[in-house]
Amino acid sequence: MNVTFRVFRFSPGVDKEPHFDTYSVPLKESMTVLEGLLYILDNLDPTLSFRFACREGVCGSCAMFINGSYKLACQTQIGELKANKIEVQPLPNFPLVKDLVVDLSAFYEKIEKVLPYLTAKNDVVEKEQLQSPVERKRIDEVIDCILCAACQSACPQGWTGKDFLGPAVLIKSYRFIADSRDRAGDERLKLVSGEDGVWRCHSAFNCVEACPKHINQTAAIGSLKRKAVVRKLLFWKR
Ligand code: SF4
Ligand code: FES
Repeated sequence: MNVTFRVFRFSPGVDKEPHFDTYSVPLKESMTVLEGLLYILDNLDPTLSFRFACREGVCGSCAMFINGSYKLACQTQIGELKANKIEVQPLPNFPLVKDLVVDLSAFYEKIEKVLPYLTAKNDVVEKEQLQSPVERKRIDEVIDCILCAACQSACPQGWTGKDFLGPAVLIKSYRFIADSRDRAGDERLKLVSGEDGVWRCHSAFNCVEACPKHINQTAAIGSLKRKAVVRKLLFWKR
């Protein structure tokens, strides 16, 4: 039995306009969308471009728009889509590089802005800093983010405000603010409290729906908003 793949194609400088190409792929048991794309690349069209690395839902590089939903291609079995046609598009709302590959440079630059590393409470760390199970629980969910950028793509505030930090960037900040071992919470909060930070989030929940790791970004951003208000009202900090 074969399954039809309808794949978005555009090669700048070669194609005049974006279009879809159709391929017939022999279906194997438990075959994933990524395996289908690899079959096309190896057997039908070596010019098709897409990203992947780990093939096990860890690196985040294979996030795509598959049959109208955000998904990791390596974690999506064709059978579970219950469709005889698989339509694959690049992540919407990012500049296109080629075919299914988008330019994530601006996304990574935003991540850099929020200091995505632990600033340890002890200046000289001679031994590991322990966390209690309760302290660890606070960051359990957000630490699972694999930076696939699906939520950044899905956020309507990002469609109109290109400087909005976006859900993945804000939860990266939250991940360290909520970490009991970090001492840069105040500086971090200041970085996300500006007009392109938490207040641009209108709780549309698109990010929550898009996330392949089932992270509730809206709840984490809500917590950041409350912390930002307390910081402003109680301490009169800018
Ligand atoms: S929060 Fe979820 S959707 Fe957003 S980048 Fe992380 S893993 Fe991807
Ligand atoms: S290839 Fe790494 S998450 Fe899919």
